[in-house]
Amino acid sequence: MTISSNPTAPLVVVVGSTGKQGGSVIQALAESDKEYRIRGLTRDVSKPQAQRIATQGVEMMNVNLTADNADAARAAFKGANIAFIVTNFWEHLDKAREVAEGKMLVATAKAADVELLVWSGLESAAEVSQGKYGHVDHFDSKAEITTYARKSGVQLLIVQAGAYASNHLHSPQKEADGTYTLGLPVGPNTILPIIDAVHDYGLFVREGIECPKFGAGTEVLASAEDISVAEMLVQLSMITGKKVVYKRISDEEFMAATRAPHHVALELLEMWKYFEEFGYFGDKDTSSSRQHLNRTPHTWADFVREADWSSILV
Ligand SMILES: NC(=O)c1ccc[n+]([C@@H]2O[C@H](COP(=O)([O-])OP(=O)(O)OC[C@H]3O[C@@H](n4cnc5c(N)ncnc54)[C@H](OP(=O)(O)O)[C@@H]3O)[C@@H](O)[C@H]2O)c1
Ligand SMILES: *[C@@H]1O[C@H](CO)[C@@H](O)[C@H](O)[C@H]1NC(C)=O
Repeated sequence: MTISSNPTAPLVVVVGSTGKQGGSVIQALAESDKEYRIRGLTRDVSKPQAQRIATQGVEMMNVNLTADNADAARAAFKGANIAFIVTNFWEHLDKAREVAEGKMLVATAKAADVELLVWSGLESAAEVSQGKYGHVDHFDSKAEITTYARKSGVQLLIVQAGAYASNHLHSPQKEADGTYTLGLPVGPNTILPIIDAVHDYGLFVREGIECPKFGAGTEVLASAEDISVAEMLVQLSMITGKKVVYKRISDEEFMAATRAPHHVALELLEMWKYFEEFGYFGDKDTSSSRQHLNRTPHTWADFVREADWSSILV
């Protein structure tokens, strides 16, 4: 665990440093035998999580990265050799806002003359499905930012995050007979590219930065394994000793179960249909992205073994 203070070491500016992806990027670069200086951005350097990161030698900096705050963003990216950027749709559920913030971050990194911009993009579900699924905003928004970044001419490395293993920590429902079900509006053979984001997203970013096969102009798909939801539940049952079974539910049942506003429920429904019919990454193959990692990423089973299920599989 070393983060450099040597002024000749490249400076990596990390957006979302207190979050899952950005935090994982910091951990992975700290594990590297290469030297990096790291500046972590947050809206609140005083919070415990930010303080913890600072004790590792990361320069933590306060900045609110909204589209109307580009001047402050410029100051935060000053001197960066590498920038890692991520946008957070789930905080506001607003596609236009996510796109505006993402474009601002890209333009700011470009203006800072970074040697490499690492962007946490996703596919456009609308484009991959040729218009069939047009409401998967948090995918389409990231693809729109990718298009903008490509056009900007910045040295761009895309590291798409797979489906977080942690998404499923709260999803099983207890049935009257004491077993558990996971209800989804898709078939049991739907495949997810699973990643333990906190543990491993940064591992893929490190590969993208350090491995000569990747770097600017390339894309890394961050997934430890491609696994069906049915197989995930078989493994979950085996490891926890609780019976968790797959349950196909109707679109209406699924939307109601999300307890989200209609447009968000529809977005999540279409997301699952998109995964089932077209694939999370479209038809892109994830295996080449796993070939040059510095350690083995957690599989779904590894995640299940380490996670605390006590409050959910009670
Ligand atoms: N769940 C999945 O399966 C999955 C898969 C692929 C992609 N994603 C995408 O991942 C993204 C979220 O990333 P994450 O999981 O790392 O999120 P997270 O753990 O919730 O962290 C969000 C980070 O963003 C920072 N942030 C948010 N708004 C900010 C602002 N205005 N100014 C400065 N910093 C700001 C937060 O910093 P502070 O709070 O400290 O300011 C925090 O560090 C989402 O867009 C989602 O679509 C999720
Ligand atoms: C960040 O900016 C947004 C939009 O201008 C504002 O709503 C929010 O309160 C700001 N957050 C902080 C912590 O300054």
